[in-house]
Amino acid sequence: MRERGVSRRRALGIGGALGLIAATGLSTSAALARRPSITGAELTSAVPLPPPYQVPLPIPATLQPTAQGRYEIVQREASAEILPGVRTPLWTYGGTFPGPTIESRRGGPVTVTHRNELPVPTVVHLHGGRTPAASDGYPTDLVLPRNWTHAGGHAGHGMPDPRAVVTELTRDYTFPLDQRPALLWYHDHRMDFTAPAIWRGLAGLHIVRDDAEEALGLPSGPRELPLMIADRAFAADGTLDYPALDPGLRARPGVRDPYLAGVMGDVILVNGAPWPVHEVDAARYRLRVLNASNARHYELEAVTDDGRRLDLVQIGADQGLLAAPVTHRLLPIAPAERYDLVVDFKGVPIGGRVRLLNRLGTGRTRDVMAFRVARAAADDSRIPAALAADLPDWRRSDAVRVRDFAFRTGRMHGGHGWLIGGLPFDPARSDVTTALGDVEVWRLVADVHHPVHLHLAGFRVLARSGRPPLPHDAGLKDTVSLRPGESVEIITRFDGYRGRYLFHCHNAEHEDMGMMANIEIT
Ligand code: C2O
Ligand code: CU
Ligand code: CU
Repeated sequence: MRERGVSRRRALGIGGALGLIAATGLSTSAALARRPSITGAELTSAVPLPPPYQVPLPIPATLQPTAQGRYEIVQREASAEILPGVRTPLWTYGGTFPGPTIESRRGGPVTVTHRNELPVPTVVHLHGGRTPAASDGYPTDLVLPRNWTHAGGHAGHGMPDPRAVVTELTRDYTFPLDQRPALLWYHDHRMDFTAPAIWRGLAGLHIVRDDAEEALGLPSGPRELPLMIADRAFAADGTLDYPALDPGLRARPGVRDPYLAGVMGDVILVNGAPWPVHEVDAARYRLRVLNASNARHYELEAVTDDGRRLDLVQIGADQGLLAAPVTHRLLPIAPAERYDLVVDFKGVPIGGRVRLLNRLGTGRTRDVMAFRVARAAADDSRIPAALAADLPDWRRSDAVRVRDFAFRTGRMHGGHGWLIGGLPFDPARSDVTTALGDVEVWRLVADVHHPVHLHLAGFRVLARSGRPPLPHDAGLKDTVSLRPGESVEIITRFDGYRGRYLFHCHNAEHEDMGMMANIEIT
């Protein structure tokens, strides 16, 4: 491990994972990385599942402000007919899953008042938001429900967190949205219970727009579709099946064996509907894809009835537009990643179908959704060769330090855990301290698949196992998919706000089982 002219360097328990790479060799790690993801165990639904491509694709409703820049969301139990003829109880933002979409303008601050009428504490995080720490949804900044009596400070596994700001019933979250236009999403982030809370329905979209993006002439209006992809499983009584140790999600965190590596379902939902179908014009569409699954990875392809693969033209990443489009035929997407894609249905016979498939799935989980090309139509949309000119171009030489983090399996509190640098999450420990404005290079190594997410700061991917980044690593990201045995270098600038933030694995079960750490920006 060389020093690269850096002033300070912390190596946190990196030996093991580097040893893995040394022992297997890069070519083997590349081979491992090409194998289908084994990123969790799959639950089997106990109700009959509908045939694919029958249910129409729902588009989540846009939330109406109560005043300029002010919104209110009630978190409450509701039920929905997700599978035809089956009632499924959910935990929701505003009564629906996904929750309502918030549409914002860059730099136009938004305050969302959340009211917790669920039976457990909650906390909301705007994923991808450049948000002051007080509104970033730190896992112990809980909003308690009425009459919550659970003992202790509830900082997880009995650890007290003196810095937690706990409120009763409601909390205002303020988002300056001083950031690039992008598809963000909001979801629960409760200490130790994030995975089951998202699984039960606590997730919604937040789209930030600006004039420059709108002037590009990209497909818009009904030809811009948000697609929140998430897998679930259904128990015999119609409830969402989840292998929680404490089904009420009140006190005891964790999941049963064999789901410790991640929980996957056998039903693929898009915007809350199973294997839906959407009628389209024979024209370009902008697909804003989010993988909101807890643990399932997808490798997407768009296939016509006669077996032709359509181009997936990537125009944006997690944190907004790319500098220039990148064309994919196959696109891997890890939990929490977003890809902004343009697909052109012109040339598909009218009445024909384009299926969005997951090459990593087996049986029914190979299907995702379908588009039925209903009619010929005029199309004045464009994909400009130059999309955005404002991408940061941080260089290695800008970095004032390099840090190493190993994402590996291990033990915590006497049981199975997922660790960063050999340690499970502790709200009381500062893992990274950095100064506002510092540029840093981080080298992240993985034993198995880990989608690593940084709060606050978008980053760029510099290298994968010493080689250039992959085509889908382009642009500004906030979540990067580490593949087994891989070492990924990223560069970022800790810009925006001071305070306590997080980075963590976004396999939601790993996150709940310790794979999270603190960033203190001073
Ligand atoms: Cu999408 Cu810390 O999370
Ligand atoms: Cu986040
Ligand atoms: Cu992980």
